[in-house]
Amino acid sequence: MTLVLWLKSTLIVLLAKELTDPLYILPFKRQNIYREKRRMQKIVVLTGAGISAESGIPTFRGSDGLWEGHRIEEVATPEGFRSNPELVLDFYNQRRQKLLSSDVKPNAAHIALAVWEASLPPSDFLLITQNVDDLHVRAGSKNVVAMHGELLKARCLDTGSVFPWYMDMTLQTPHPEKADQLGRLRPHIVWFGEMPLEMEQIEEAIIDCDCFVSIGTSGKVYPAAGFVQMTPKECWRVEINLDNADNSGAFDDSFVGRATEQVPRFIEAWKQRFCS
Ligand code: OAD
Repeated sequence: MTLVLWLKSTLIVLLAKELTDPLYILPFKRQNIYREKRRMQKIVVLTGAGISAESGIPTFRGSDGLWEGHRIEEVATPEGFRSNPELVLDFYNQRRQKLLSSDVKPNAAHIALAVWEASLPPSDFLLITQNVDDLHVRAGSKNVVAMHGELLKARCLDTGSVFPWYMDMTLQTPHPEKADQLGRLRPHIVWFGEMPLEMEQIEEAIIDCDCFVSIGTSGKVYPAAGFVQMTPKECWRVEINLDNADNSGAFDDSFVGRATEQVPRFIEAWKQRFCS
Protein backbone atom coordinates (compact mmCIF):
# COMPACT_ATOMS: atom_id res chain seq x y z
CA MET A 1 0.00 0.00 0.00
CA THR A 2 2.78 2.43 1.01
CA LEU A 3 4.67 1.42 -2.12
CA VAL A 4 1.62 2.14 -4.31
CA LEU A 5 1.18 5.57 -2.72
CA TRP A 6 4.89 6.34 -3.15
CA LEU A 7 4.78 5.28 -6.82
CA LYS A 8 1.65 7.44 -7.42
CA SER A 9 3.17 10.57 -5.85
CA THR A 10 6.44 10.05 -7.72
CA LEU A 11 4.48 9.79 -10.98
CA ILE A 12 2.62 13.02 -10.23
CA VAL A 13 5.91 14.83 -9.48
CA LEU A 14 7.48 13.50 -12.70
CA LEU A 15 4.40 14.47 -14.72
CA ALA A 16 4.51 18.00 -13.33
CA LYS A 17 8.21 18.14 -14.14
CA GLU A 18 7.53 17.09 -17.75
CA LEU A 19 4.99 19.88 -18.16
CA THR A 20 7.43 22.51 -16.96
CA ASP A 21 10.65 21.00 -18.29
CA PRO A 22 10.20 18.70 -21.28
CA LEU A 23 13.82 17.53 -21.20
CA TYR A 24 13.44 16.04 -17.74
CA ILE A 25 11.70 12.70 -18.33
CA LEU A 26 11.24 12.46 -22.08
CA PRO A 27 12.24 9.15 -23.58
CA PHE A 28 15.78 9.30 -24.97
CA LYS A 29 14.75 9.56 -28.64
CA ARG A 30 12.32 12.42 -28.07
CA GLN A 31 14.95 14.25 -26.05
CA ASN A 32 17.28 14.10 -29.03
CA ILE A 33 14.68 15.54 -31.39
CA TYR A 34 13.92 18.27 -28.88
CA ARG A 35 17.59 19.10 -28.55
CA GLU A 36 18.03 19.11 -32.33
CA LYS A 37 15.20 21.64 -32.64
CA ARG A 38 16.72 23.77 -29.88
CA ARG A 39 20.10 23.52 -31.55
CA MET A 40 18.76 25.27 -34.64
CA GLN A 41 17.49 28.25 -32.64
CA LYS A 42 20.15 30.81 -33.41
CA ILE A 43 20.45 31.61 -37.09
CA VAL A 44 22.94 33.93 -38.76
CA VAL A 45 22.62 34.69 -42.47
CA LEU A 46 25.39 36.38 -44.45
CA THR A 47 24.53 37.79 -47.85
CA GLY A 48 26.62 39.14 -50.71
CA ALA A 49 26.11 40.64 -54.13
CA GLY A 50 24.74 37.37 -55.57
CA ILE A 51 21.44 37.75 -53.70
CA SER A 52 20.75 41.08 -55.40
CA ALA A 53 21.95 40.02 -58.87
CA GLU A 54 18.45 38.89 -59.87
CA SER A 55 17.10 42.28 -58.77
CA GLY A 56 19.21 43.88 -61.48
CA ILE A 57 22.22 44.97 -59.42
CA PRO A 58 25.45 43.62 -60.94
CA THR A 59 27.81 41.64 -58.67
CA PHE A 60 31.32 42.95 -58.05
CA ARG A 61 33.32 40.23 -59.70
CA GLY A 62 31.02 39.00 -62.47
CA SER A 63 31.76 39.76 -66.11
CA ASP A 64 29.36 42.72 -65.88
CA GLY A 65 30.79 43.53 -62.43
CA LEU A 66 30.40 46.84 -60.66
CA TRP A 67 34.10 47.58 -60.87
CA GLU A 68 34.06 47.28 -64.64
CA GLY A 69 35.81 50.32 -66.10
CA HIS A 70 37.30 51.29 -62.73
CA ARG A 71 40.10 50.04 -60.57
CA ILE A 72 38.93 49.25 -57.02
CA GLU A 73 41.60 51.65 -55.70
CA GLU A 74 40.06 54.48 -57.72
CA VAL A 75 36.50 54.23 -56.41
CA ALA A 76 36.54 52.17 -53.23
CA THR A 77 39.42 53.39 -51.08
CA PRO A 78 39.93 56.49 -48.90
CA GLU A 79 43.01 57.28 -51.03
CA GLY A 80 40.92 57.16 -54.21
CA PHE A 81 38.43 59.57 -52.64
CA ARG A 82 41.19 61.96 -51.57
CA SER A 83 42.82 61.99 -54.98
CA ASN A 84 39.64 62.26 -57.10
CA PRO A 85 36.52 62.92 -54.99
CA GLU A 86 34.40 63.88 -58.00
CA LEU A 87 34.97 60.52 -59.69
CA VAL A 88 34.13 58.62 -56.48
CA LEU A 89 31.00 60.68 -55.72
CA ASP A 90 29.84 60.22 -59.30
CA PHE A 91 30.43 56.44 -59.12
CA TYR A 92 28.17 56.18 -56.07
CA ASN A 93 25.64 58.67 -57.52
CA GLN A 94 25.17 56.25 -60.42
CA ARG A 95 24.80 53.27 -58.07
CA ARG A 96 22.26 55.22 -55.94
CA GLN A 97 20.23 56.27 -59.00
CA LYS A 98 20.12 52.67 -60.18
CA LEU A 99 19.01 51.43 -56.73
CA LEU A 100 16.21 54.01 -56.64
CA SER A 101 15.02 53.26 -60.19
CA SER A 102 11.68 51.51 -60.54
CA ASP A 103 13.19 48.39 -62.12
CA VAL A 104 15.15 47.45 -58.95
CA LYS A 105 13.14 45.72 -56.26
CA PRO A 106 13.56 42.87 -53.75
CA ASN A 107 13.43 39.41 -55.31
CA ALA A 108 12.10 36.07 -54.07
CA ALA A 109 15.28 35.39 -52.08
CA HIS A 110 15.12 38.67 -50.12
CA ILE A 111 11.42 38.08 -49.47
CA ALA A 112 11.89 34.45 -48.36
CA LEU A 113 14.49 35.55 -45.77
CA ALA A 114 12.15 38.25 -44.43
CA VAL A 115 9.26 35.79 -44.11
CA TRP A 116 11.54 33.24 -42.42
CA GLU A 117 12.76 35.86 -39.92
CA ALA A 118 9.16 36.87 -39.13
CA SER A 119 8.39 33.26 -38.15
CA LEU A 120 11.18 33.20 -35.52
CA PRO A 121 11.80 34.96 -32.20
CA PRO A 122 13.62 38.26 -33.02
CA SER A 123 16.64 37.43 -30.87
CA ASP A 124 17.26 34.18 -32.81
CA PHE A 125 17.90 35.69 -36.23
CA LEU A 126 20.57 38.06 -37.52
CA LEU A 127 21.02 38.99 -41.16
CA ILE A 128 24.47 40.36 -41.97
CA THR A 129 24.75 41.84 -45.42
CA GLN A 130 27.82 42.96 -47.31
CA ASN A 131 25.50 44.69 -49.76
CA VAL A 132 25.05 48.43 -49.65
CA ASP A 133 21.60 48.28 -51.29
CA ASP A 134 18.51 48.40 -49.08
CA LEU A 135 16.71 45.42 -50.62
CA HIS A 136 16.62 43.31 -47.44
CA VAL A 137 14.95 46.14 -45.54
CA ARG A 138 12.54 46.79 -48.41
CA ALA A 139 11.64 43.08 -48.38
CA GLY A 140 10.72 43.36 -44.69
CA SER A 141 13.84 42.03 -42.91
CA LYS A 142 14.18 43.61 -39.47
CA ASN A 143 17.35 42.49 -37.77
CA VAL A 144 19.80 43.56 -40.48
CA VAL A 145 23.42 44.66 -40.10
CA ALA A 146 24.86 46.38 -43.18
CA MET A 147 28.53 45.73 -42.45
CA HIS A 148 29.82 47.54 -45.58
CA GLY A 149 27.58 50.58 -45.14
CA GLU A 150 24.52 51.84 -46.97
CA LEU A 151 24.21 53.59 -50.30
CA LEU A 152 21.18 55.54 -49.12
CA LYS A 153 23.11 57.24 -46.33
CA ALA A 154 25.68 60.05 -46.26
CA ARG A 155 28.40 60.60 -43.68
CA CYS A 156 29.87 63.89 -42.49
CA LEU A 157 33.63 63.94 -43.09
CA ASP A 158 34.20 66.05 -39.97
CA THR A 159 31.96 64.50 -37.31
CA GLY A 160 31.10 61.05 -38.69
CA SER A 161 27.35 61.82 -38.33
CA VAL A 162 25.21 59.76 -40.68
CA PHE A 163 22.14 61.02 -42.59
CA PRO A 164 19.56 59.38 -44.87
CA TRP A 165 20.54 60.31 -48.46
CA TYR A 166 18.62 59.90 -51.72
CA MET A 167 20.08 62.64 -53.94
CA ASP A 168 23.27 62.98 -55.93
CA MET A 169 26.24 64.15 -53.89
CA THR A 170 28.82 66.62 -55.28
CA LEU A 171 31.58 68.82 -53.93
CA GLN A 172 28.99 71.62 -53.83
CA THR A 173 26.39 69.70 -51.81
CA PRO A 174 25.55 71.60 -48.60
CA HIS A 175 25.74 69.82 -45.26
CA PRO A 176 22.18 68.88 -44.19
CA GLU A 177 22.61 70.59 -40.81
CA LYS A 178 24.99 73.45 -41.71
CA ALA A 179 23.95 74.91 -45.06
CA ASP A 180 27.11 77.07 -45.37
CA GLN A 181 29.38 74.01 -45.32
CA LEU A 182 29.83 72.57 -48.80
CA GLY A 183 31.37 69.28 -49.89
CA ARG A 184 31.95 67.84 -46.41
CA LEU A 185 30.00 64.63 -47.08
CA ARG A 186 30.92 61.19 -48.38
CA PRO A 187 28.85 58.07 -49.13
CA HIS A 188 28.30 55.95 -46.00
CA ILE A 189 30.21 53.07 -47.57
CA VAL A 190 33.04 51.04 -46.03
CA TRP A 191 35.97 51.30 -48.41
CA PHE A 192 38.95 48.95 -48.64
CA GLY A 193 41.30 49.62 -45.73
CA GLU A 194 38.43 50.76 -43.45
CA MET A 195 36.87 48.84 -40.58
CA PRO A 196 33.52 47.16 -41.38
CA LEU A 197 30.61 48.30 -39.21
CA GLU A 198 29.06 46.62 -36.15
CA MET A 199 31.81 44.00 -35.88
CA GLU A 200 31.20 43.43 -32.17
CA GLN A 201 27.53 42.53 -32.68
CA ILE A 202 28.45 40.37 -35.67
CA GLU A 203 31.13 38.40 -33.83
CA GLU A 204 28.89 37.85 -30.80
CA ALA A 205 26.14 36.40 -33.02
CA ILE A 206 28.47 34.20 -35.07
CA ILE A 207 30.34 32.55 -32.21
CA ASP A 208 26.99 31.55 -30.68
CA CYS A 209 25.02 30.50 -33.76
CA ASP A 210 23.49 27.09 -34.50
CA CYS A 211 22.98 27.61 -38.21
CA PHE A 212 25.09 29.82 -40.48
CA VAL A 213 23.92 30.44 -44.04
CA SER A 214 26.06 32.25 -46.58
CA ILE A 215 24.28 33.42 -49.73
CA GLY A 216 25.73 34.78 -52.97
CA THR A 217 29.17 35.81 -51.82
CA SER A 218 32.48 34.91 -53.44
CA GLY A 219 34.33 34.45 -50.13
CA LYS A 220 37.12 36.72 -51.33
CA VAL A 221 36.72 39.72 -49.04
CA TYR A 222 37.66 39.55 -45.35
CA PRO A 223 36.53 39.68 -42.61
CA ALA A 224 33.20 38.39 -44.03
CA ALA A 225 34.93 35.51 -45.84
CA GLY A 226 36.26 34.25 -42.49
CA PHE A 227 32.94 34.31 -40.57
CA VAL A 228 32.23 30.66 -41.40
CA GLN A 229 35.43 29.67 -39.59
CA MET A 230 34.30 31.49 -36.45
CA THR A 231 31.10 29.43 -36.05
CA PRO A 232 30.89 26.84 -33.24
CA LYS A 233 31.85 23.24 -34.01
CA GLU A 234 28.25 21.90 -33.90
CA CYS A 235 26.88 24.70 -36.10
CA TRP A 236 25.21 23.76 -39.41
CA ARG A 237 27.05 25.73 -42.13
CA VAL A 238 25.22 26.09 -45.43
CA GLU A 239 26.32 27.81 -48.60
CA ILE A 240 23.97 29.01 -51.36
CA ASN A 241 25.72 30.09 -54.55
CA LEU A 242 25.67 29.74 -58.32
CA ASP A 243 29.22 28.55 -58.20
CA ASN A 244 32.01 27.53 -55.83
CA ALA A 245 33.23 30.31 -53.56
CA ASP A 246 36.81 30.61 -52.30
CA ASN A 247 35.74 29.34 -48.86
CA SER A 248 33.28 26.63 -50.01
CA GLY A 249 35.31 23.90 -48.31
CA ALA A 250 34.34 25.26 -44.88
CA PHE A 251 30.59 24.56 -45.35
CA ASP A 252 28.68 21.37 -44.44
CA ASP A 253 26.10 21.66 -47.22
CA SER A 254 25.72 23.52 -50.49
CA PHE A 255 22.62 24.60 -52.36
CA VAL A 256 23.86 25.29 -55.86
CA GLY A 257 21.94 27.61 -58.17
CA ARG A 258 20.23 30.96 -58.33
CA ALA A 259 19.37 32.58 -55.01
CA THR A 260 15.71 33.13 -55.97
CA GLU A 261 15.28 29.35 -56.28
CA GLN A 262 17.76 28.03 -53.73
CA VAL A 263 16.96 30.30 -50.76
CA PRO A 264 13.27 29.23 -50.60
CA ARG A 265 14.40 25.62 -51.20
CA PHE A 266 16.89 25.79 -48.34
CA ILE A 267 14.35 27.33 -45.94
CA GLU A 268 11.89 24.57 -46.80
CA ALA A 269 14.60 21.96 -46.11
CA TRP A 270 15.38 23.68 -42.79
CA LYS A 271 11.70 23.53 -41.80
CA GLN A 272 11.37 19.87 -42.81
CA ARG A 273 14.42 18.97 -40.81
CA PHE A 274 13.82 20.97 -37.66
CA CYS A 275 10.17 21.94 -37.42
CA SER A 276 8.15 18.95 -38.61
P1 OAD B 1 31.15 39.11 -55.53
O1 OAD B 1 30.81 39.84 -56.77
O2 OAD B 1 32.59 38.96 -55.18
O3 OAD B 1 30.54 37.64 -55.57
C1 OAD B 1 29.21 37.40 -55.91
C2 OAD B 1 28.91 35.94 -55.68
O4 OAD B 1 27.55 35.73 -55.95
C3 OAD B 1 29.70 34.99 -56.58
O5 OAD B 1 30.23 33.93 -55.78
C4 OAD B 1 28.65 34.46 -57.57
O6 OAD B 1 28.90 33.08 -57.92
C5 OAD B 1 27.39 34.55 -56.75
N1 OAD B 1 26.18 34.77 -57.55
C6 OAD B 1 26.01 35.54 -58.65
N2 OAD B 1 24.74 35.55 -59.05
C7 OAD B 1 24.06 34.74 -58.18
C8 OAD B 1 22.70 34.33 -58.06
N3 OAD B 1 21.75 34.74 -58.90
N4 OAD B 1 22.37 33.50 -57.04
C9 OAD B 1 23.32 33.04 -56.18
N5 OAD B 1 24.61 33.40 -56.25
C10 OAD B 1 24.97 34.24 -57.23
O7 OAD B 1 30.34 39.83 -54.34
P2 OAD B 1 30.58 39.75 -52.77
O8 OAD B 1 31.11 38.43 -52.36
O9 OAD B 1 29.33 40.24 -52.15
O10 OAD B 1 32.80 45.31 -50.60
O11 OAD B 1 31.70 40.83 -52.56
C11 OAD B 1 32.13 41.10 -51.27
C12 OAD B 1 32.55 42.54 -51.15
O12 OAD B 1 33.50 42.82 -52.16
C13 OAD B 1 31.46 43.55 -51.43
O13 OAD B 1 30.63 43.80 -50.33
C14 OAD B 1 32.22 44.76 -51.79
C15 OAD B 1 33.27 44.14 -52.68
O14 OAD B 1 34.46 44.73 -52.69
C16 OAD B 1 32.95 46.63 -50.49
O15 OAD B 1 32.60 47.41 -51.34
C17 OAD B 1 33.58 47.05 -49.20
